[in-house]
Amino acid sequence: MSKKFLKAVKGMNDILPSETPLLQYIEKNIRQVLEAYGYQEIRLPLLESTELFSRSIGEVTDIVEKEMFSFLDTPDKYGNRDSLTLRPEGTAGCVRAGIEHGLFYNQRQRLWYIGPMFRHEKPQKGRYRQFYQIGAEAYGLSGPDIDAEMILMTARFWRRLGLDDLELQINSLGSAAARAAYREQLVSYFSDRRSQLDADSQRRLQTNPLRILDSKNPEMQALIENAPQLLEHLDEASLEHFATLKHLLEKAGVNYRVNPRLVRGLDYYNRTVFEWVTQNLGAQGTVCAGGRYDGLVEQLGGKQPTPAVGFAMGLERLVLLLSQVQVADKSPHAYLLMVGNDAVIEQGLCLAESLRDLLPELRLLTHCGGGSFKSQFKRADKSGAKIALVLGENEVTNQEITLKYLRENRPQFSVAQSELGEYLKTLIIDK
Ligand code: HAM
Repeated sequence: MSKKFLKAVKGMNDILPSETPLLQYIEKNIRQVLEAYGYQEIRLPLLESTELFSRSIGEVTDIVEKEMFSFLDTPDKYGNRDSLTLRPEGTAGCVRAGIEHGLFYNQRQRLWYIGPMFRHEKPQKGRYRQFYQIGAEAYGLSGPDIDAEMILMTARFWRRLGLDDLELQINSLGSAAARAAYREQLVSYFSDRRSQLDADSQRRLQTNPLRILDSKNPEMQALIENAPQLLEHLDEASLEHFATLKHLLEKAGVNYRVNPRLVRGLDYYNRTVFEWVTQNLGAQGTVCAGGRYDGLVEQLGGKQPTPAVGFAMGLERLVLLLSQVQVADKSPHAYLLMVGNDAVIEQGLCLAESLRDLLPELRLLTHCGGGSFKSQFKRADKSGAKIALVLGENEVTNQEITLKYLRENRPQFSVAQSELGEYLKTLIIDK
């Protein structure tokens, strides 16, 4: 058998122990804020039917056209093979689960989720093929008040994490009917100037003309700048919704910029769309994005009209922005050395268990694997622990333990094993 070393799949990253504390810090803070606003966690499968995504995100979007990890399931007893896809985002699965379990029926829901998403994109800084999102979705609420509250919640995330360089961009896509009328105008405008369109935009002219507005090609910018604007073609009700949202954001003191070209890359949106963008991550500057999707629940088979709004943020991008933050030290409080015969190890392991019973928050590392006092002490020091607990044959006989500070210049001392818990509590944990 080949002994060739197999590397991780392109774009799929390992998150190493040195990196997890920052991730945990972000997750903990965001979870606290979500709970404070009454959002409840939902856990969803990574695999869904391919059709769920093509029907919700849209057949002619980048995600569905070229970024999905899809494969055929093993044949069922009739030989049929379902097409399955690793989820590229969380909204479609959340709607599917809500319909399947009757969560939307005459109910309002505020839900959130965390987990990996998969997109077959070209990897670069801030863009990966497996990445983590935290997302939130609210169902059964149609007014701009919930849009505003959601955006205020995201603003609170950034305050909580100490991020102050994010810009909020908002736009309204209006009703499906208003968008269809606008689409015709846009197609006519770009068709008259077809020769100025790049290849990608020529293709989009047929399939998804609104996405031309999203083009990053510098040579297309003047053309796009002069194109008819969606905001000028909105229906009355959507205009009012958008005006109230802006008013509420102003009242709450959240700065925003209306970006009339913000159209989002997924088809399910209507009315409000928004993105939080940073200048500090190069091309992948969108940290958090979302909007309203009032039609999706019915489109996927829900029996009742269910207005919905939500967003998701990319955790790797937050990690990149926060990489300078000092997170709480998770090194062990204490390191237990066990130097001597079998009786030492027996007593040591039992002592460690009783300490863990007594002090659930204690981070205690036991030295397994034997060795001399010197070599065990070296490892204790390297572990980052504040204190070494030394158990030798004398200590076993006397039912004592020796405590030695590793980071402070203080004399070592011995205490009865029965009192060790109290000592550790006052010396380390309560400090
Ligand atoms: P999205 O804009 O496709 O929206 O993704 C949301 C966020 O996920 C992005 O702003 C970015 O931070 C992160 N992200 C996306 N792709 C990648 C990638 N390849 N690598 C790293 N991070 C990435 C959605 O997914 C919608 N489901 C959001 C939503 C929820 N709308 C309503 N509810």
